[in-house]
Amino acid sequence: RSKGLVFSGIQPTGIPHLGNYLGALESWVALQDDYSTVMYSIVDLHSITQPQDPQVLRDNIMDMAASLLACGIDPTRSILFQQSQVSEHAELSWILGCLTSMPRLRHLPQWKMKSKQKNEGSVGLYTYPVLQAADILLYKSTHVPVGEDQIQHLELAQDLARIFNNQYGEFFPEPRALLSGTRKVKSLRDPSSKMSKSDPQRFSAVFLTDTPDDIALKIRRAVTDFTSEVTYEPDTRPGVSNLVSMHAAVSGQTIEGVIRLAEGMDTGQYKNMVAEAIIKKLQPIRLEIQRLRADQGYLESLLAQGAEKARSLAAPVMKEVRKLLGF
Ligand code: ADP
Ligand code: NA
Repeated sequence: RSKGLVFSGIQPTGIPHLGNYLGALESWVALQDDYSTVMYSIVDLHSITQPQDPQVLRDNIMDMAASLLACGIDPTRSILFQQSQVSEHAELSWILGCLTSMPRLRHLPQWKMKSKQKNEGSVGLYTYPVLQAADILLYKSTHVPVGEDQIQHLELAQDLARIFNNQYGEFFPEPRALLSGTRKVKSLRDPSSKMSKSDPQRFSAVFLTDTPDDIALKIRRAVTDFTSEVTYEPDTRPGVSNLVSMHAAVSGQTIEGVIRLAEGMDTGQYKNMVAEAIIKKLQPIRLEIQRLRADQGYLESLLAQGAEKARSLAAPVMKEVRKLLGF
């Protein structure tokens, strides 16, 4: 295990889909063997930048805890916790916000996109990259697994570490990106866009809790094209290539390997093979989510223990920060 502290967060916005799993969670699991301290946070403070129904949010937090554990996040090898249970996140976020200029945030692409959709956004939506920086710096994190879409937010965290260090003396290490697999899983109904929770189309995403029948139906309905042969050509044949790439990922094979298996099949026949491979991968995860979800007391006590550990790392850092600021 190399020295260093890995931190990443995920919003409790529903059961993760196959894109979340292959693009993020699977590598989160692997990192537990690679670094001495690994922290994963269910970032509920971030999720309230959009309106949330309290009961739904509570359920979503438990769903996410169960999902992460079922995917292989192991509380004996990593610290799994709920962000709002460690109030230091909010405190450091305020301090870092005072070091952040307005224009620095205005140009971040997610603000531009989300505030345009809503005509105007809240202060929380505007400053949430600062909270993200606080999440990371609070533990003096050295490595942050991120998707490509989050690189600019990590750059803000790096800038804020530098700005803080210039002003108050060398304190925060500059966190580095761990680019989790650049394989983007595409929407099953529109392979030109990514698989996403917020896609309103019913059959566009495979969720970790989908039954074998759900999965078979969704894959059968996946958009392909008028060529029956199975090939991997992401630019010209995004639909069938998405099936090939999901198949390779869930079965641990290479693209060439699965293309060979599909030789002589038409895309219709091939879909059965893809569905079977996805079902085989996700069934144990689905059953484990169900099992964990039935014992809310266990999940809550596990999150409480995680928060305890997180606080024990955050408290001494904040004590130093307060002293450096003159409090
Ligand atoms: P969603 O767009 O479904 O709400 P999030 O934005 O919550 O997903 O993403 C959580 C994590 O999953 C991020 O690390 C993100 O990069 C990754 N991710 C999301 N969608 C995909 C996808 N279709 N393919 C690969 N990775 C994805
Ligand atoms: Na999203």
